[in-house]
Amino acid sequence: MKLFLDTANVDEVRQGAAMGVLGGVTTNPSLMAKERGADFRQTVIEICELAKGPVSAEVTALDTAGMVAQGREVASWHEHVVVKLPITPAGLAACRELRGEGIAVNMTLCFSVNQGLLAATVGATYVSPFLGRLDDIGHDGMALVAELVEVFRVQRFETQVLAASIRHPLHVVQAAKVGAHIATMPFKVLMQMVQHPLTDVGLERFLADWERREVPKPALA
Ligand code: E4P
Repeated sequence: MKLFLDTANVDEVRQGAAMGVLGGVTTNPSLMAKERGADFRQTVIEICELAKGPVSAEVTALDTAGMVAQGREVASWHEHVVVKLPITPAGLAACRELRGEGIAVNMTLCFSVNQGLLAATVGATYVSPFLGRLDDIGHDGMALVAELVEVFRVQRFETQVLAASIRHPLHVVQAAKVGAHIATMPFKVLMQMVQHPLTDVGLERFLADWERREVPKPALA
């Protein structure tokens, strides 16, 4: 399973990339809006350069023609751009068209197996089930991820399941166990994955022991 960052913050992408674990990045209009004053195009290009992998950039048009036009535009910014479209009737039609032109598409805001099936049917490169938002309303978000993985495998769809709306490190473990192809997470969750108090204590002890070691005295000439 590849690990993506769910952010529009260039600095977070830089830090994730420096760790060597970053497979790609997902953004959305809300994450972009958090980066006050940032230029959409510039930010996406900068993130693509750092991530060196797929970077989802979402369109804001609601009609098929508008989505296709915006999709072509964002896809022209960088080879790593993946056009992010909502799973709506217009979004499905736009996905079919953009995929026909060889443009990668991430179909987002997936909350049911049927939505995922439709996205795969129009050739989506990725489909993003929002598991945290389902958990928030008392549903089992991870069950949707697992079902999508199974359906795509049984039906031999090439569409990849991109587990999104991840809230904590346990979500990442569970997504890996059920076979998600990708998990996209906030920077905070990525840092929680790497941190463990016993690692800190162990490292401190190793270094203290190293400092206290007995060193051989230099022989007299
Ligand atoms: C995925 O591509 C979305 O950007 C994201 O995971 C949404 O997560 P949220 O529910 O934390 O906003």
